[in-house]
Amino acid sequence: MKPLIVANWKCNPQTTKEAKRLFNLVKGGMNKNVKVVICPPFIFLLKLEVKNSGLELGGQDCFWEKGGAFTGEISAGQLLDLGLKYVILGHSERRIHFNETDEMINKKIKATISSKLNPILCVGESERERKGGKTFNVLKSQIEKGLKGISKKEIKNLIVAYEPIWAIGTGRPCNIAEAQKTRLIIRKILSRLFGSFLAEKISIIYGGSVHSKNARSYIKEAGFDGLLPGGASLKAKEFIKIIKSVS
Ligand code: PGA
Repeated sequence: MKPLIVANWKCNPQTTKEAKRLFNLVKGGMNKNVKVVICPPFIFLLKLEVKNSGLELGGQDCFWEKGGAFTGEISAGQLLDLGLKYVILGHSERRIHFNETDEMINKKIKATISSKLNPILCVGESERERKGGKTFNVLKSQIEKGLKGISKKEIKNLIVAYEPIWAIGTGRPCNIAEAQKTRLIIRKILSRLFGSFLAEKISIIYGGSVHSKNARSYIKEAGFDGLLPGGASLKAKEFIKIIKSVS
């Protein structure tokens, strides 16, 4: 399977011009051996031309209701209508700054699955939880609650992103051995939920201070199926180096 690289642009850049420029530069550096999904702010989704680029677009979030009186929200169906296939859900920045709970994330996961989108469920422990030896329990709880009520049939397109909070945006990535160990923990939690045969089919990707020099190791050594770079995805040259390094 091709490595999956999901670029999380977060609330960047500030203008359509910059977004188009970044997107077009990345387009020029695309590699057929890698699957690249760009997740820009919603407002840029219609402005970026994916046709014949080899790139895909994804959302950074979506709402769980189909529509209605929910000011400011965007539904999974609306994202599907734009031709999107992927949606990041439960990112720690949404959990921390917007008080998203596992229950809310679970509703969003269900909405994306019903809309035939591929949800990327982000899980990860804080520095404090890690130091207190709570990583397993935190991941178990986030995964079990986030995927509550999801049947074996529905997990086909699920992606789980391991994003240790202490590694996000800090320039302090998780070391490869620890990341590999945690990937196996996530696999075990998924196996308990869905059986090992199906759990093996769920892609597990890594995010947290990924750059062009460590990207390859997460895939080739730690065994991840892909990556979720944030900061590095905003620098075209660096991001293209990441794509090349894992191809
Ligand atoms: P980072 O962000 O690569 O800037 O650490 C990753 C993320 O938040 O998904």
